[in-house]
Amino acid sequence: MPPKRIAIVTSSTRRPRLNPTITRYVYDVLSADPTIPTTPNSDPSITDPRHITLEILDLAKQSLPLYDESVIPASLPATDPTPHYTKPHAQAWSSIVRKCDAFIFVTPQYNWSIPASLKNALDYLFHEWKGKPAGIVSYGSRGGGKAAEHLRGVLNGLRMRAVGTAPGLIIKHTGLPVGSLSEEEEQVELDARDVEGWRQAGIEGMMRNLGMELVCELDKE
Ligand SMILES: Cc1cc2nc3c(=O)[nH]c(=O)nc-3n(C[C@H](O)[C@H](O)[C@H](O)COP(=O)(O)O)c2cc1C
Repeated sequence: MPPKRIAIVTSSTRRPRLNPTITRYVYDVLSADPTIPTTPNSDPSITDPRHITLEILDLAKQSLPLYDESVIPASLPATDPTPHYTKPHAQAWSSIVRKCDAFIFVTPQYNWSIPASLKNALDYLFHEWKGKPAGIVSYGSRGGGKAAEHLRGVLNGLRMRAVGTAPGLIIKHTGLPVGSLSEEEEQVELDARDVEGWRQAGIEGMMRNLGMELVCELDKE
């Protein structure tokens, strides 16, 4: 059996943005955890079903317009919905999501909810999400708990198996660069005081719990 693929989803799409930095933080914590059986790539020769690959899936790279499909995703054939979308971007997004076995949605809080980019990307599909394990990591000035709550409701609507642990990262000091910037200059460095705050709040332990909960869900399949 090939390794199970967990996609860590970068949800905001503006520039510059903090989301890629938080996504990388989640990736680093989980890939450094010896109890989570990760493998560095999707090597099909690895036959141990406990093996997991972690990969980053950035919504900004999917170029999804605001939902413009005439079909209702839940009404498409469950076993092979992809060719039934009418737009090439929806078909492309469908085939990407179908190949992933589980997801960790890393989301900021925008006005007490999730960014429209994430809701839009979720709305595009149904069967590709349905039944798959999902984790939530939120961030914001108070940890983004309201975004996490809204997202849990949406994931339930998509019949995903959202796990319980949902770390919320409080951002107090990390800032975004301003001005007209190149892609390299847009990279955001985490402020050490925020990282220390997360450490004291046990955020890394929560992330590892979340990772193990996903692995347990995948092991049930
Ligand atoms: C449109 C918008 C709405 C926001 N609303 C909230 C909010 O409700 N609560 C909060 O803590 N932060 C809020 N923020 C601050 C964001 O958490 C912060 O800007 C964060 O960097 C956003 O993630 P991003 O940089 O990846 O887009 C908001 C930011 C934006 C752009």
